Amino acid sequence: MSQERNNREISSALRAHFGRAPRVFIRTFGCQQNVSDSERMLGLLEGLDCEACCEAEGADIIIFNTCAVREHAEDRVFGNIGRLKALKSERPELLLCVGGCMVQQEHIAKKLLESYPYVDIVFNTNELGRLPSLLAERLEKNTPLDAHGCCDWSMREGLKPRREGGFRAFVPIMYGCDNFCSYCVVPLVRGRERSRNSEHIIAEFKAALGEGYRDIMLLGQNVNSYGKGLDEDINFAGLLRKLASLEGDFTLRFMTSHPKDATRELFEVMGAFPKIAPHIHLPVQSGSDRILRLMNRRYSSEGYLRLTEEARALVPGITFSSDIIVGFPGETREDFDATLRLIREVRFASLFTFIYSKREGTPAAKMPDDTAHKTKARRLAEILDIQEEIAAERENALVGSVQRALVVERLGEVLYEGRLWDNNSIALEGSGAVGEFAQAEILSRTKKRLFGRIV
Ligand code: 5AD
Ligand code: SF4
Repeated sequence: MSQERNNREISSALRAHFGRAPRVFIRTFGCQQNVSDSERMLGLLEGLDCEACCEAEGADIIIFNTCAVREHAEDRVFGNIGRLKALKSERPELLLCVGGCMVQQEHIAKKLLESYPYVDIVFNTNELGRLPSLLAERLEKNTPLDAHGCCDWSMREGLKPRREGGFRAFVPIMYGCDNFCSYCVVPLVRGRERSRNSEHIIAEFKAALGEGYRDIMLLGQNVNSYGKGLDEDINFAGLLRKLASLEGDFTLRFMTSHPKDATRELFEVMGAFPKIAPHIHLPVQSGSDRILRLMNRRYSSEGYLRLTEEARALVPGITFSSDIIVGFPGETREDFDATLRLIREVRFASLFTFIYSKREGTPAAKMPDDTAHKTKARRLAEILDIQEEIAAERENALVGSVQRALVVERLGEVLYEGRLWDNNSIALEGSGAVGEFAQAEILSRTKKRLFGRIV
């Protein structure tokens, strides 16, 4: 790997290559962590005088930030890369870079480098800071670069994100995951858990407030274990306390919380600071203890329910959202019924439901899986129906009340899109200011959506 070079040199090399200030298109797949990584890439590239551009066709540098969590996401990436072949033969000077979780799997990196020779750089997103020198190196060597294996974590801090606008700012507080849930590829591709120093987090949080963001979301695969391995004596509850004590009118959210690491102290802090949204995304994955054991989740359905009760007692009005995997290897109708019972008992504000996807290298990939896909799809549909029933009941119960909502987008002359505490969306009529909080009287629920009036 060549030495890191100075940005000015790289910027002029790129400009000379393209004959203009390079236009960059970044396509992000997957989770908020990837969105946040892409914002950092864009920040870096703008520092090299590149301009953001919103489609591949007009771009000089095309970056795919990929996701590996389910096979479907990977197929989409390959499909998209395949479609760029024609563009690349028309304009061979174009630079096509693929990073993100997918390329951290050996078989994928190999496939990309061997079967897609028009891909210029395969890089490790953990080393975002190296992107400029990789671009320069690619221009010099004129042959595809394989930088997927490197991992120097020091290349991550100090990068200023170019937030994509919108109403929410993401602030990563940790990277990687140490949990090794048996179905999940994340620990294999994102590596071991690493917390950022609280002073870096606080500085980034303040900068986001300074840019006018009112809804700030802390990100990590398992935010509840924040602080492990740091020199400072801090845990997640402590970090929340510091952030929620900052001046300003804002809402603080976080995701994802692993139930095994959610503490009483966390709920106490959530209950004590009004700036922390009384909402927690707490993936349960399954309601069957047998499946939870096979998943290596390290809690039982009863433990999960106890946790939600503790949270309800300490955080007034708290709402929950969750992730559920249906059709984990060997999931029987009985196991699935246990999941349905849990869903009915907790009454989540929203659910993200996935059909199990086999991931190479994970322990679950070796478990016998003889449930037909059709059965899994039917189970998924059953959950969606039940969840819609619950959501309708919950949201209808809000009609007539006044709730705090963040106005996030203008939809029409006197119509806005808003977000409630629990992040559910609401259509709002009246006069509002995008990016600011408003009091909303909830008027009705139609077409699976709340409708209200700014008061
Ligand atoms: N198959 C299906 N869903 C998965 N998830 C993670 N790995 C898999 C997989 N192999 C889901 C989990 C996790 C969410 C981010 O993605 O529910 O919480
Ligand atoms: Fe994957 Fe489990 Fe880590 Fe979440 S906690 S990223 S599901 S291994």
